[in-house]
Amino acid sequence: MPGYLARNTNRRSIASTSDRLPPWRYRCGTKRNRMNERDWDKVAGTFEQEIFNVPANDAKGIIRGWVENLASPGAEATDLGCGVGRTLALLADHYARVYAVDVSSQCLEVAAKANAGRSNIAYVHADVSADKNSYPATDVVLCINTWLNAALEIREGLIDRTCRGVKKGGHLLLVVPSLNSALLTAYRHLQWNLRDGMDPQAAQKAAALNSHGLEHGLVSIDNVPTKHYLREELEALLNDRGFQVLDIEKIEYPWSTEFDAPPRWMKAPFPWDWFVAAKRVR
Ligand SMILES: C[S@@+](CC[C@H](N)C(=O)[O-])C[C@H]1O[C@@H](n2cnc3c(N)ncnc32)[C@H](O)[C@@H]1O
Repeated sequence: MPGYLARNTNRRSIASTSDRLPPWRYRCGTKRNRMNERDWDKVAGTFEQEIFNVPANDAKGIIRGWVENLASPGAEATDLGCGVGRTLALLADHYARVYAVDVSSQCLEVAAKANAGRSNIAYVHADVSADKNSYPATDVVLCINTWLNAALEIREGLIDRTCRGVKKGGHLLLVVPSLNSALLTAYRHLQWNLRDGMDPQAAQKAAALNSHGLEHGLVSIDNVPTKHYLREELEALLNDRGFQVLDIEKIEYPWSTEFDAPPRWMKAPFPWDWFVAAKRVR
């Protein structure tokens, strides 16, 4: 699902002020309408350029901190939607066995090459939204920007199987796009337009989000409808699936991830993805 990885791209592709379009760096998606295995396969070779690197931009080390804190001798972990394996080394260093799961065999190939020296990683080619789990439930499941699909019937399968992939008493570490952040970005865009002297109507129009289904969290990133989440929605959906939410935090990014050359006055609050740590209690 390519759209969701770029960060500014989307937001700005929404705006008509093309001089504000951010560089093609995708936070959540890519420029192409990737949604299926073939789409993700196509991006495998250019993943680093096309797909925003969340772990590398987690300036406070929230993901690393939780991965390290939950590690214990013999514990097993899954990297669900592992892509080209950016977080595999971190997991493999702290867990006895790691399952690297992805729908894209090409991405898995790149991941396996990059981690060739690590014998405790098993690579699993699976569509988590549909397949019966072909890997065991583990103590920790790390899932970074994989719950992006706009289609509810696909997304529900993805969410259910992700949750079932966590052992009872184990933990889910989740990163998803924030709907609040998308709305904040639209507000910043409006402010910018007004400061530039646009009339209010034109300023609002130019800053409007590209969205069909905003009430369901669907915001297009580079014309790819991408699911964004509310904090409260995450709490509710995880509680429904037997999880106790332990922590919800913002992984914050600079405004340059949303806009090309953002003005100096555009400071905090910054855009963010949600990070969630939740324990499976039933
Ligand atoms: C935005 S990328 C994130 C990759 C990685 N987690 C990272 O942070 O670099 C989303 C990944 O999820 C995978 N993915 C999407 N839908 C999937 C599904 N239904 N089953 C398994 N993997 C899926 C894609 O192939 C892609 O590698």
